[in-house]
Amino acid sequence: MTETKTATERINIERLMSKIEALGQVGGLPGGGVCRLALTDEDKAGRDLVVSWMKELGLKVTVDEVGNIIGIRAGRTDGAPFLMGSHIDTVRTGGYYDGNYGVLGGLEVIACLNDARITTEIPVGVGVFTNEEGARFAPDMLGSLAHQGQLDKEAALGAVSIDGKVLRDELVRIGYMGTEPVGSMRAAGYVELHIEQGPVLEREGITIGAVEGVQGISWTEVNIKGVSNHAGTTPMSMRCDAAYCAARIAVFVRELALRMGRRQVATVGAITVWPNLVNVVANRAKLTVDLRNTDNELLKQAEAELAAFLEQLKQDEKVGIETRKLARFEPVDFAPEMIDLVEREARALGFSVKRMPSGAGHDAQAFAPNCPTGMIFVPSVRGISHNIEEHTEPKDLEAGANVLLRVVLNRAGSAA
Ligand code: GLV
Ligand code: MN
Ligand code: MN
Repeated sequence: MTETKTATERINIERLMSKIEALGQVGGLPGGGVCRLALTDEDKAGRDLVVSWMKELGLKVTVDEVGNIIGIRAGRTDGAPFLMGSHIDTVRTGGYYDGNYGVLGGLEVIACLNDARITTEIPVGVGVFTNEEGARFAPDMLGSLAHQGQLDKEAALGAVSIDGKVLRDELVRIGYMGTEPVGSMRAAGYVELHIEQGPVLEREGITIGAVEGVQGISWTEVNIKGVSNHAGTTPMSMRCDAAYCAARIAVFVRELALRMGRRQVATVGAITVWPNLVNVVANRAKLTVDLRNTDNELLKQAEAELAAFLEQLKQDEKVGIETRKLARFEPVDFAPEMIDLVEREARALGFSVKRMPSGAGHDAQAFAPNCPTGMIFVPSVRGISHNIEEHTEPKDLEAGANVLLRVVLNRAGSAA
């Protein structure tokens, strides 16, 4: 009976698309795309909508002490659930699919199980994890890390946002400071459906990515202290120019990545200078450096080279430079059994598959040390993400969600 169910059930793409589009309207931007930064009013509205859908599907919904929302569908037996999930917070210029697809794809799988009156052997759930993006609070993956006991609850609650708010206060303000203890729940397994957010699948004409793991991520905030002075009267040799130093760092990390080659990437995505005026040498600059590599030793090398460059810059330009680590994740490998399963189920549905690493961070990496974990990627049109033009074709969204359904039926067992 398990075989028959597994082989015949299919997700309903119209139902999935209508949820993706409805959630995309929450925090929708005038030119398209979404801004739903973690724990803002828009995030609250998105959470409320997803919780209402979870309840309509008959899930038992809990909210934990850092705001993670988990909806559980009972199985024939109690015990640790097999979880799907992702996030619904977005970057400031987000699209409809990053994170949202994994959550809503999970709900679509639940709807299919309901329609087919399938009772799985073990419970099945969908998680919505707090602040995956890290665009408002650091670190990224904050909620899933706390959920899997890898980030201390107090550290998570004490995180301060880019707009100076404490995470605990923001959770209370939007009504998502839950009571479910965080850090102790262990899943029987975890699978996350996600858009690739890069160009590989589209370029190679492949429908499904069986994700092997996530590359290492290092985020550093750099604070530079210079001296304000008159732009017209101060000789070039007498400046302590914080804006110039910020620019030098941005150029350095780009050249570093190009020099190291292979999988090293480097980004300065945020720069603020003070007083930010046309005729004043900047006395202060703050910037972020995002370094990533699939090889932890090479990532350490990039970090060491950045540190040496900052030391030299400090001396050469007579500025103060202080750094603060915002996030550091070693590369994560997913369970071979889950990678194999994603590949097998995709092929059983007739889809082309490629095994590949993830360039982006994901909630799945928080689960990987604790339970068999995997991810399913689908193509991103033109490889664009963290951009309002992020897009994936409905046929690919449908393909990925059908693979998710089969993975869930395989791991949770369809008992009836
Ligand atoms: C999350 O989207 C990240 O990889 O930065
Ligand atoms: Mn994401
Ligand atoms: Mn993202």
